[in-house]
Amino acid sequence: RIAGSCGLVMFGVTGDLARKKLMPAVYDLANRGLLPPAFALTGFARRDWERQDFEEVVYNSVREHARTPFRDETWKQLAEGIRFVQGTFDDPDAFQELRRTVEELDERRGTGGNHAFYLSIPPSAFPQVLTQLRDSGLSDPKEGAWRRVVIEKPFGHDLQSANELDAVVSDVFPPDSVFRIDHYLGKETVQNLLALRFANQLFEPIWNSQYIDHVQITMAEDIGIGSRAGYYDGIGQARDVIQNHLLQLFALTAMEEPATFDANDLRDEKEKVLRAAKLPADLSANTARGQYSAGWRGGEQVGGYLDEDGIDPESITETYAAIRLDVSNRRWAGTPFYLRAGKRLGRRVTEIALVFKKAPSPYFQEIEGVDVGNNALVIRVQPDEGVTLRFGSKVPGTQMEVRDVTMDFAYGNSFVESSPEAYERLILDVLLGDPPLFPRHEEVALSWKLLDPVTAHWETQGQPEQYRSGTWGPASADAMLTKDGRVWRRP
Ligand code: BG6
Repeated sequence: RIAGSCGLVMFGVTGDLARKKLMPAVYDLANRGLLPPAFALTGFARRDWERQDFEEVVYNSVREHARTPFRDETWKQLAEGIRFVQGTFDDPDAFQELRRTVEELDERRGTGGNHAFYLSIPPSAFPQVLTQLRDSGLSDPKEGAWRRVVIEKPFGHDLQSANELDAVVSDVFPPDSVFRIDHYLGKETVQNLLALRFANQLFEPIWNSQYIDHVQITMAEDIGIGSRAGYYDGIGQARDVIQNHLLQLFALTAMEEPATFDANDLRDEKEKVLRAAKLPADLSANTARGQYSAGWRGGEQVGGYLDEDGIDPESITETYAAIRLDVSNRRWAGTPFYLRAGKRLGRRVTEIALVFKKAPSPYFQEIEGVDVGNNALVIRVQPDEGVTLRFGSKVPGTQMEVRDVTMDFAYGNSFVESSPEAYERLILDVLLGDPPLFPRHEEVALSWKLLDPVTAHWETQGQPEQYRSGTWGPASADAMLTKDGRVWRRP
């Protein structure tokens, strides 16, 4: 799978995402031989830069963040295709200049009229840039060529704004030219969910409410919000990651087997299960939110959210969010899904844990003080990527004592191949025009529809509960499970 002749135009090249992820991913793709020799990278920004300045920015970001070794030949080849256009989003002349640049690349570099526009910019700027792309003719492909647009989240901040945004996007680009990035779908372990479930006969027969007591989907981070106050405050953890990453993990875990793994069949199944997912009526008891206070991170003392630079000291933005979902279909009725995500938690870990029901054996239940047979299948999304199966086993000795043990699959032990970074995979798929890993608008809309009542409810609840940095979140999150007779895993 090697991309054909094409170019990538990046908006937002001065941002963190471009510097830390996108530019290094482009280089790594080139280094792995997955980009065509004629590839071109054009930056568009307000900065008063010359082409060389932008080249230096790309160079530094590659040297600092690329995953593959630095190779002069790769860099030389890539650098020859680097261009820069200076301008603001409201300036039609700058877009005409961009158009000339793209045409020059087609002629001199051989990009063949194929260009993807990557919008790594604040959502408030989407309408303006999209309109300029249309008015300048940049969104119109020549006969036999393609033009695509790549949009970074957030896709709105609720259902209504997401629909408005979609109306703007679809006014300029047809649906199959729109690539919405949810970088969790680019992760190797997330794609492996499909292989695990559907390439094996072992798991699917027990992947239902007859055997599974409940499912826990956890995305824990040890970092705080760092320098992202401007983006994060007022958005919060539920909109930042539950609406997209966690609900995508949920959909892939809970959906039925698609007829094929083509984009539309896969998206149909994800949408079906998102439609079947329901919030419990009592949102106070079945959701939890918190905000980190001072505490510890990696052996160092750290301040609380309200002390972070740029945060309103009265902010009620949550940095921890948990919700319960029930799925009203034959496979899952009676098996709740608990989703939680938080910043400044005990450690960084993302996992999906399927916790099985207890064995009915009266004998093993009678062994005093032993809580055995907490069978669980844990898909470790990151770090320590792999899968763990936990089950009870007899402790060697003359007595029948049982203890839980684990059977582990770790990527590092089983594969010599290294996983590409999520953005490498996604950028390559954009250039190939391969859409399965990109959500449709309908999925985005369904996710907002699920989440809107939660955020609306929280807005009436005043200050979120505080939890100390370095702990596992607010007490209300524990209470949310305790009332159901369950506990959160300590990954
Ligand atoms: C982003 C969120 O989408 O994902 C961030 O906006 C979060 O708040 C990040 O830190 C986590 O990504 P990863 O790949 O490090 O788990």
